[in-house]
Amino acid sequence: MTALLEIDGLYSGYAGVAMVRDLNLTVHAGEIVALLGPNGAGKTTTLLTTSGLNPVMKGDIRVFGRSVRGRPAHRAPREGLAHVLEDRSLFYQLTVAENLRLAAARSKGDLARALSYFPALEPLLGRRAGLLSGGEQQMLAMARALTSKPRLLMVDEMSLGLAPVIVERLLPVLRRIVDDTGAGVLLVEQHVHLALEVADRAAVLVHGDLVASGTTAEIAGRAAALESTYFGAGAEVEAGADVGADAEAGAEAEADARTGDPEADPEDNPEGSR
Ligand SMILES: Nc1ncnc2c1ncn2[C@@H]1O[C@H](COP(=O)(O)OP(=O)(O)OP(=O)(O)O)[C@@H](O)[C@H]1O
Ligand SMILES: [Mg+2]
Repeated sequence: MTALLEIDGLYSGYAGVAMVRDLNLTVHAGEIVALLGPNGAGKTTTLLTTSGLNPVMKGDIRVFGRSVRGRPAHRAPREGLAHVLEDRSLFYQLTVAENLRLAAARSKGDLARALSYFPALEPLLGRRAGLLSGGEQQMLAMARALTSKPRLLMVDEMSLGLAPVIVERLLPVLRRIVDDTGAGVLLVEQHVHLALEVADRAAVLVHGDLVASGTTAEIAGRAAALESTYFGAGAEVEAGADVGADAEAGAEAEADARTGDPEADPEDNPEGSR
C-alpha cells in the first residue's frame, strides 16, 4: 500500500507550546483513517499542520512522500491534498454553483464529478450558500474539496452542528469516494461510533498524546475503556450504528430531522439564519 500521509514524531502547536506531541500516523491510498479524541486534543492542529497552515515544531509530515516543511499552504490543493476545514469556509454570499466554480477554477478541477457524489446539491445550485442548511453546507464543502480530485482528503468535524442522522448519511459518501478514486481520507469526527463504522483504522488523541491506534475493530473493542478514560460522559464510542445510505437520502433525512425527529439537533443551522 502506498503511504500518502506519514506523520512522524510530530510536535505542533501555537506560540512555541506543543499541543500535539510525538504523533505518528499514516494514511495509505484507499483507506479511511479516523482521528478521534475529545475537545482540545489537537485533532484540528494536526490537520492544519499537514496542510501547511500551522508550522511543524519538531518531527516531520510527508504528504505524497514530500515533507511539508517549507511548502507553502497554497500549493497543497494542486499537489492533490484537499482539506475541508472545521468551519467549512464557504463563500456564504455566493451561490452553490459559484462556490463550486471558484473551487474548480482554482484547481482546474472536475465539477460534474464532484457534484455526482452529492446529487442533493443539484436543485440548490442557484441558492446562496449562506441559506443552505447545515447538512447542505457540509455537502457543498465536501463537493468543493472534491473538485481538485484529491489523492488525500482531510475532513475536520463533518458532523459539526449536524444531527447524527445526517452524519450517518454523509459518512458513507466518503467510503464511495475512496473506493472509486483510491484516495486516502483522514477523518476527524465527533460521532465516534459512526466514524468507526466507516473507517478502516483509527487513532485516538488525548491532550496532544496518541493514546490508542489500530484497526477500527481493535479500537471499537477497547471502546468502553477508552470512553470512560478519555472521552468522558456523553461520548458515543460504542460501535454498531447502521451506516449505509447515501447523501441524497441525507438531504431528505435532514428535512425530517428539522421537522420533528427527536434526534435532531436544535443547533442545526436553520435555513435563512445567515
Ligand atoms: N490559534 C491558537 N492559538 C493558541 N492555542 C490554540 C489555537 N488553536 C488551538 N489552540 C489550542 O490547541 C489545543 C488543541 O486544539 P485543537 O483545535 O487542535 O483541538 P481539537 O482536537 O481539534 O478540538 P475540537 O474537538 O474542540 O475541535 C487546544 O488546547 C486549543 O485551545
Ligand atoms: Mg477541532
